[in-house]
Amino acid sequence: MEALKGIRILDMTHVQAGPTCTQLLAWLGADVIKLEPPQGDATRGQLRDVPHADSLYFTMLNCNKRSIVVNMKSAEGKAVFVDLLRRCDIVMENFGPGVLDRLGFTWEKIHSLNPRVVMGSIKGFGSSGPYADFKAYENVAQAMGGAMSTTGLPEGPPFVTGAQIGDTGTGLHLAIGLLAALRQRDRTGEGQYVEVAMMDGVMNLCRVKFRDHQRLFRGPLSEYSVETAQGMGAVPRAGNDSGGGQLGNAIHCKPHGPNDWLYVVVQEAVWEGLANRIGGDALAKDPRFAKIADRRKNQDEMWKLITEFAKNYTKREFMAILNPLDVPCGPIMSTEDLANDEHVRGRDMWVELDHPQRGKWFNVGMPIKLSASPAVIKRSPTLGEHTEEVLREVLRYDDNKIKSLQQAGAFSAPPKKAA
Ligand SMILES: CC(C)(COP(=O)(O)OP(=O)(O)OC[C@H]1O[C@@H](n2cnc3c(N)ncnc32)[C@H](O)[C@@H]1OP(=O)(O)O)[C@@H](O)C(=O)NCCC(=O)NCCS
Repeated sequence: MEALKGIRILDMTHVQAGPTCTQLLAWLGADVIKLEPPQGDATRGQLRDVPHADSLYFTMLNCNKRSIVVNMKSAEGKAVFVDLLRRCDIVMENFGPGVLDRLGFTWEKIHSLNPRVVMGSIKGFGSSGPYADFKAYENVAQAMGGAMSTTGLPEGPPFVTGAQIGDTGTGLHLAIGLLAALRQRDRTGEGQYVEVAMMDGVMNLCRVKFRDHQRLFRGPLSEYSVETAQGMGAVPRAGNDSGGGQLGNAIHCKPHGPNDWLYVVVQEAVWEGLANRIGGDALAKDPRFAKIADRRKNQDEMWKLITEFAKNYTKREFMAILNPLDVPCGPIMSTEDLANDEHVRGRDMWVELDHPQRGKWFNVGMPIKLSASPAVIKRSPTLGEHTEEVLREVLRYDDNKIKSLQQAGAFSAPPKKAA
């Protein structure tokens, strides 16, 4: 049985941050009803690779959901929303600031309509504070949560990371909050409002940089390969430094293409074996690298020696040399490497699906593995694919009621006025 079987979610989320969360909960077994405006989630049409088909942006974030179209700007659409709200355990949204209030559904109103419902909300900056009124996208959150100022090299511009820590990271944070609130609701009978701000989520993921921020009050950061000094204020960008107690770096390997790199951590315990392999007894006994403090001080020299050794090997060959020495290391995997990787396929992390509009495509799989409830991944719905099904099965509407709601525009955009 699926872990969240019996939990019904009214999902008004769009774009990436919210849909990440609801897809995950759907994979855990919740019945996720995605309520979309008549034109659908904007991502259905964004970055299309197949004409007239839902984009991969949409299909990769909305699996295992049912889609219904409801025009929340019509009185009849609002009535359908209220009926659904009364039959759901969780309602979720990630609209811009004030959107839900303008539609007439503040948290207080939602709570009064269904005191048991848990409400999940994502905002760029939360509902309080000077930034509360701002909209946000992924890179805005990365910029404002500390990720960009700490990614890259000191002399270069700040960089975003390819991992979607602002959107997907926030969705994951919200999932944790919702499950906790659901557990509490089951004990008390009362739902609550769960909010995650993207900026807060990114700050949480940058926690170790704030560790270093405070260490700078006391002295330089000895493990950083770039210059640091007591009192310098902001944590500098530090390239590919490990960020932990052990030294680490990406080492360029044969044939020296853009992804021919191996990330190597020179863990304290493995130095002797590693040094012996790359430079023999002389390097293992070299006083410049004798202790971790020496290696920190002379790390530029150490990385040069390791790179010199690695230049004759591919990243996989170099990895095969380091594995028996117990040196923690990993090849920089391109998307192509990962899509074809045996390990990835074996763990169901690159899953082939079929879609009525686009045919075969792949989704990244479910990273959380439950032993008794493995996720079964099903394709994303087309726009409004389940509108009638949900109206009949969940709301028990009959033909007459559905027809009159249709005629009143509950499920469609109003016709454009003649010019
Ligand atoms: C992502 C974001 C920037 C997009 O901005 P946007 O495209 O202007 O969309 P908004 O959420 O502000 O507004 C949605 C509009 O659609 C309308 N709408 C949404 N669902 C509807 C429905 N079912 N029926 C009718 N109208 C609907 C809303 O009422 C709103 O209209 P309004 O502006 O007239 O009030 C914004 O939603 C946002 O900041 N969200 C919070 C942060 C976030 O999650 N960002 C991550 C994105 S991955």
